[in-house]
Amino acid sequence: MFWRLMKPADLDAVHAIADRIHPDHPEDLDVLAERQRLFPPGCQVLECDGLLLGYAISHPWEFGRPPALNTKLERLPADPTTYYLHDVAIAADGRGSGRAAQAVDRLVGVAAAIGLHNVSLVAVNGSQGFWEKHGFVPTPLAGLATKLSSYGGGAVFMVREIGEPARRSRVGKADGI
Ligand SMILES: CC(C)(COP(=O)(O)OP(=O)(O)OC[C@H]1O[C@@H](n2cnc3c(N)ncnc32)[C@H](O)[C@@H]1OP(=O)(O)O)[C@@H](O)C(=O)NCCC(=O)NCCS
Repeated sequence: MFWRLMKPADLDAVHAIADRIHPDHPEDLDVLAERQRLFPPGCQVLECDGLLLGYAISHPWEFGRPPALNTKLERLPADPTTYYLHDVAIAADGRGSGRAAQAVDRLVGVAAAIGLHNVSLVAVNGSQGFWEKHGFVPTPLAGLATKLSSYGGGAVFMVREIGEPARRSRVGKADGI
């Protein structure tokens, strides 16, 4: 099982996984395809024996302005102020093996490589605890409450400053760090 860059040919499978994992927040194939086209390094898939088990979608963005769900970005900002994690999702039979932690490390690496100093996201599906394990901190921002309600109850805006180590990471544990 390994992460690799998402290709346009992966999009149908990615969309099918997204529909299964996020039945309450469906997103059009076009919306996912636009992310892949706008920022290929931020879009990755988890492959196992030729099948896709998960995906990660992320891109540079403006801090404190999470995009509405199922909405195209049109373009990336010329002067991004955050690296935005749109989604990391793994099908049930691929979970619990540290691959999501790996994806977070990879994407934080992409953010650092393009010179951004923080990574932000909206935690949904009760995933706040997962993100906290990876160094993300709930960060209430004035004016965000209404927008977050479109992500469903319990959605939380979270931020990780780049350079701060995650509290726990299975990858880190495995490496003896
Ligand atoms: C969140 C998700 C990607 C985690 O995948 P995973 O394969 O379980 O993650 P990993 O194996 O890398 O990490 C597992 C670790 O995270 C913890 N974890 C996983 N989901 C968690 C959650 N919802 N809350 C708290 N901790 C969680 C596990 O307990 C485990 O901890 P450990 O290393 O101390 O044993 C997966 O549950 C998923 O796809 N969820 C649905 C999509 C989703 O909600 N994504 C987030 C959108 S913001």
